[in-house]
Amino acid sequence: MSLSPEKASGKSPYSGERIRNGGEKMSVSVVYWSGTGNTQAMAEAVAEGIRAAGAEADVMEVANADAAALAAENAFALGCPSMGAEQLEETEMEPFVETLEPLVSGKKILLFGSYGWGDGEWMRDWTERMKNAGAVLVRDEGIIANEAPDDGALEECRAAGRDLAAGA
Ligand SMILES: Cc1cc2nc3c(=O)[nH]c(=O)nc-3n(C[C@H](O)[C@H](O)[C@H](O)COP(=O)(O)O)c2cc1C
Repeated sequence: MSLSPEKASGKSPYSGERIRNGGEKMSVSVVYWSGTGNTQAMAEAVAEGIRAAGAEADVMEVANADAAALAAENAFALGCPSMGAEQLEETEMEPFVETLEPLVSGKKILLFGSYGWGDGEWMRDWTERMKNAGAVLVRDEGIIANEAPDDGALEECRAAGRDLAAGA
């Protein structure tokens, strides 16, 4: 006997919604840190893409996120600008990523963030770090935007959000 569409994991043929085993709508988390709103704007665009793919987006600041709960998800997005000297923000994001690191093997992750005067070194380091921890990145080099994301960067974020949700 085959599973009814609501019980099967995947895309419902009726609504286009992404449905988990058990029937509830799939939710994909977007966890970010942002000091002046640029990475937050990227987070919101990623969430738009997730919703466009028929899933729910759970967007939250890293201060409100729980690393163990996040690591229980198959796919999620993390955003942080370049801070310090080409580093993750040190008081909230860096400790969060340290806690998450041993838990991400096999997880599908999207990394994104904004930068100012640098050349994206912080994102090269971050993507390398997560790949070394066994994560499967939805965008191999992450998504970076110089200061406030322009339309092109926001569209990249939406497209990556759709891909993240489609494979969640
Ligand atoms: C304390 C501090 C350190 C920063 N360090 C860097 C850096 O090392 N490299 C860089 O490209 N931009 C750096 N920036 C610029 C920010 O990454 C940039 O303004 C970014 O758009 C901020 O994103 P947000 O609005 O999400 O906080 C720094 C900004 C601040 C306030």
